[in-house]
Amino acid sequence: MKLIVTILILLIVDYYFYSAISTILNNYILKIIYWLISFSFYLAILYIFLNYYEQDYSVESGNNLIICTSLILIIFVSKFLGIVPLIIDDIIRSFKLLNIFLFKIDTHYNVDRLKFLKQTAVIISSLLFSTMLLGMKFGRYNFKKNFQDIYLKKWPKSLNGYKIIHISDLHLGSFGSVEKLEEVVKIINEEVADLIVFTGDLVNNSFHEATAYINTLNKLIAKDGKFSVLGNHDYGDYRGIKRGTKVWEENFQNLKNLEKDAGFQLLLNETITINRSEDKFNLIGVENWGAGNFNKDGDIDSAITNIDQSLPNILLSHDPSHWSQVILKKNYNIDLQLSGHTHGMQFGVDIPGIKWSPVQYRYKQWAGLYRKDQKQIYVNRGLGSLGYAGRVGIMPDISILNIRSV
Ligand SMILES: [Fe+2]
Ligand SMILES: [Fe+2]
Repeated sequence: MKLIVTILILLIVDYYFYSAISTILNNYILKIIYWLISFSFYLAILYIFLNYYEQDYSVESGNNLIICTSLILIIFVSKFLGIVPLIIDDIIRSFKLLNIFLFKIDTHYNVDRLKFLKQTAVIISSLLFSTMLLGMKFGRYNFKKNFQDIYLKKWPKSLNGYKIIHISDLHLGSFGSVEKLEEVVKIINEEVADLIVFTGDLVNNSFHEATAYINTLNKLIAKDGKFSVLGNHDYGDYRGIKRGTKVWEENFQNLKNLEKDAGFQLLLNETITINRSEDKFNLIGVENWGAGNFNKDGDIDSAITNIDQSLPNILLSHDPSHWSQVILKKNYNIDLQLSGHTHGMQFGVDIPGIKWSPVQYRYKQWAGLYRKDQKQIYVNRGLGSLGYAGRVGIMPDISILNIRSV
């Protein structure tokens, strides 16, 4: 049913776009080519939908799949945004026609589509399409080190400059290259981290997606260890398999085993105290807790039972909405939360002085550091990609956090 509705919506967008630009395609061969391309993408959508979960997963098949879905996505997003000026045009034309037929107002109006709106539609679509295509070629693996100083009131002076490398949202099912992950490992290890943290979304759907990458992840080194939490994609909930069934449990257990094989200690609503000679801090890790329809397995109360609250508390929690909806609202004693999940929508502007992405209208804390009184959150922009195998403006993020005392 979902598939039929999706294809119907795409068909409407497609037809609307076609009817608007059909005068530009003033040749039957071009018109036939337009529909041949469109229908080949409908067939591709059908093929992906019907075969995805049956196929034997491999890095190559995962890569082919996301390249295919990306092309479908950018073609339809470009068309969809392209028809916005045409919708405005149609609204104006409807008012004009209403005046003509209802109020018998003089018919000197030109009710043809305004030429400049047609041209605007084509320009918007072409610009968006080419930008997103370039984002696939040059953005997807353009790993960016984001350096951030974070000042914490309770942080011991002896640990000034403590280096946490924070990564998130690997989405290995669509990462597409073991070699590129080796590159990430090299970049991180050159930094000589005190601690490496991974804030979830190891896979898209199934544990199989991670197996080819585990040896590479295992090469990551940090003085005080590697810790991780789960993201909403790590539960296998998007495969349409119900929780509690044998298949679901097996997938979940296998995923947890792979985290361990990769050398990460997975924190499932629990706390570990990191000791550096005399000085200590709490590293708290919760399962995914997301606002709205996302799963809410995260349980901060269980995680902090019996901990020494006087120590600095750093929380790993995949979804940044957990900070505003739980940590701030109920005033938990958390000095710093580290999150991911937003990916910065893989699209936006991220330069000194200007930070914008459409995702900010959904998540107020979506990239970088935010503060409310003494509590702070740092949101990683993600390393992998989901849905669209590319990045425009918001590059794959290796965050290098320098923790300092105030
Ligand atoms: Fe994610
Ligand atoms: Fe997520």
